[in-house]
Amino acid sequence: MKRLILTASLLLTFASVAFAASPTSTTPTFSKDIAPIFYKNCVDCHRPGEAAPMSLLDYKSARPWIKSIREKVSERVMPPWQADPHVGKFSNDRRLQQKDIDTIVAWIDAGAKEGDAKDLPKQPDYPDGWSIGKPDAVFSMPETFNVPAEGVVEYQHWTVPSNFTEDKWVTAAEIKMGNRAVIHHAIVFIYDPKTGPSLPDGLRTNLGRLPQAPRDPSRARVQQKLGSLLIGSGPGDQAMFMKPGHGMLIKAGMEFIFQLHYTPNGHATTDRTRVGFRFATEPPKFEDRNVGVLNGRFTIPANEANYMVESSATFTEDATVMSLFPHMHVRGKSFEFRLVTPDGRSQILLEVPKYDFNWQAGYNLAEPLLVPKGSRIECTAYFDNSKGNKFNPDPSKDVTWGDQTWEEMMIGFTTFALPNRHLAATMEGGNR
Ligand code: HEC
Repeated sequence: MKRLILTASLLLTFASVAFAASPTSTTPTFSKDIAPIFYKNCVDCHRPGEAAPMSLLDYKSARPWIKSIREKVSERVMPPWQADPHVGKFSNDRRLQQKDIDTIVAWIDAGAKEGDAKDLPKQPDYPDGWSIGKPDAVFSMPETFNVPAEGVVEYQHWTVPSNFTEDKWVTAAEIKMGNRAVIHHAIVFIYDPKTGPSLPDGLRTNLGRLPQAPRDPSRARVQQKLGSLLIGSGPGDQAMFMKPGHGMLIKAGMEFIFQLHYTPNGHATTDRTRVGFRFATEPPKFEDRNVGVLNGRFTIPANEANYMVESSATFTEDATVMSLFPHMHVRGKSFEFRLVTPDGRSQILLEVPKYDFNWQAGYNLAEPLLVPKGSRIECTAYFDNSKGNKFNPDPSKDVTWGDQTWEEMMIGFTTFALPNRHLAATMEGGNR
């Protein structure tokens, strides 16, 4: 009996080996096996006009890159993802499954065949290049900026009126850089011209405001004036999408402040960056807000390889943590977000063990986390100001807070949701 089973399973094994060896059935092709993987995981960045060096939308564009693709996906360098996989689960996790990596490698090793065009899945749709779909509103910098060929360009700021006569609920937003090659980052803030700068309620930072920049009073004023962050776009991040039932509020009469950080690349050129929004058709159940849990009062000593800086903020009401975004500059080494609840329990929410200035991204919690009032967000960052850090422009200098990349920052941007009070007010008041 035993032998019979053995023989049968041997036979089965032979059968499947024979089956696997038949080229027609299993040699992966671009059209059938690879395009679905690329469309889902790569083309947000690898398409014309985006950050990556080549398009992976079609066979012709992808084919010359197979050697590099094989290497980068096997080593999990691509798609970029910095979070420690053992801590937390994130809905925008871009890491490939092992079976997808195996398929890509098998495709390349078998000669990277195109296959039959009729197997191609439908290409993802990017209307006019927007990842968020066709925006309901687009705002542009008021002028074209001339980016010099070289030198240091201070952060540039422009104010753009929204001209909104009613409150708007943003469900998706995206920055379209006018000239990616010379932009380090672009941020759009919401600013209330009536009340001046204010941070959203709900999460109070424990270290107060940013230090002023005494060397340059005009710059300090601009920083004070920025208001609350709406969306940022740097080297590694995607468009911003709210969860269904969530929205970020832009009140009637608000202004946008565009902040652009230009990094000249040897050629004089121009830029005009835009931001696009999609709006909810009705007020959402939850209002999403964003607060930078920051520490602006540190001095990282020269030649110090492992300098710790901490920040924290306290929830002033029950809230739901939605998304986390660590931000440091080139001396940034690692970043951790923890949640400490009023009963003293502590939980790590996000661990970025090898922070990379070039791949900053938001991490959206797969299961948004309900936290009671009095809970704290605690952030711990480490900086490497030694010569062992290959990105360090000058290990012989003490480093403090500042805009430019050779200065430092320490911010744990935290997006949290509160029940939409505007909705409650509307309902209680009986207005429609
Ligand atoms: C978040 C944006 C993003 C995603 C998603 C992404 N890439 Fe990239 N990729 C980039 C950027 C930007 C570069 C160039 C900078 C660099 O190499 O660090 C790059 C570089 C590469 C390179 C190196 C090209 C060279 O110069 O040799 C390969 C190969 C690559 N990507 C493949 C992929 C594949 C395959 C996927 C999907 C499985 C993917 N990438 C997903 C942004 C992305």
